[in-house]
Amino acid sequence: MNKIKKTLKKYVESNRQISCVTCYDSSFAKILSDSGIDIILVGDSLGMVIKGEKNTHSVTMQEIIYHSKCVAKNKKSSILMVDMPIDSYINELLAIKNSREILKNNVDIVKLEYKDEHKTIIEKLISNNIPVCAHLGYLPQFSSDQGDVRIYGKSDVEKNKILEQAKVLDKMGVDIILLECVESNLAKEITNISNTPIIGIGSGNHCDGQVQVLYDIIGVSENPPKFSKNFLQESKSVEEAIKKFKTHISKLNIQNK
Ligand code: KIV
Repeated sequence: MNKIKKTLKKYVESNRQISCVTCYDSSFAKILSDSGIDIILVGDSLGMVIKGEKNTHSVTMQEIIYHSKCVAKNKKSSILMVDMPIDSYINELLAIKNSREILKNNVDIVKLEYKDEHKTIIEKLISNNIPVCAHLGYLPQFSSDQGDVRIYGKSDVEKNKILEQAKVLDKMGVDIILLECVESNLAKEITNISNTPIIGIGSGNHCDGQVQVLYDIIGVSENPPKFSKNFLQESKSVEEAIKKFKTHISKLNIQNK
C-alpha cells in the first residue's frame, strides 16, 4: 500500500471526513496547511479563478506546474494533489510523461477527469506507481462552459453508468475517487461500497471527504455554487474561516448518524 493510501485510510478509519481545498499560491498554501487541511488541490479551476477564463480548457502544463511549485513551497504535511490539464493525458505515453513532470515538484498525487476511454491510461499510471485521483460526475474539461453544471446520476441510466465507473476505478486501485455534483444518494452508495476514499463536491454529506474551491469558502467568488458556504462571514481572519470549514467537515459523519 502506498503512502497516500495509508494516510487516507487512517483518516477514514478515524471517522471524520477528509478536508480538501483548492489552492494556487504559497501564501494560501501556508494558511491551509497550518489550519490542518488534509489535501491541498492545485485545481485547473485556476483557469477561472486566476486567469479569469470561462472554463478550465486553456490551462496548460506549464501553468499547472508553476502553481504547483508555488503551493509546494508551503504545503507542509498536507497531501498535495494536482490536476492534469486537458489534453495532457490523451494517451498512455503522454499521461506517464506529464504526470511524472507534475510529481517532480513535491506533488503527491495527480487528478484526472474520467471517461471510459481513460481506463487503460489509469491502469498504466497505477502500474507505474503513480498515485491517481479519478474525477467523476460533472467533468469541467469535457463540458463546453458552466452550462453543463447540474446534478449527475438522477436518471437510472446515468446512475448505473457512474456506479459502474466507480466500481471499475475502485477495483483498479486508484487512490481517491472525486465525485463532482453527483446525486447524494448515489454518492452515499458509492462511498458505502468502495474501498477507495470518496471525496465529494456538491455530492451530499455522506462521502469520506469534502472538497471546496478556496475562493468559494472565503467569499471571494462572484457566483459561488449553492452548495458552498462563505466561512469568512463568521470569522475574523482567513485562517479562522478555513479552520471553521475544517471543523464543519469533521462533524459531518456525526451528523450523518
Ligand atoms: O479544479 C478544481 O478546482 C476541481 C474541484 C472543483 C474539485 O477539480
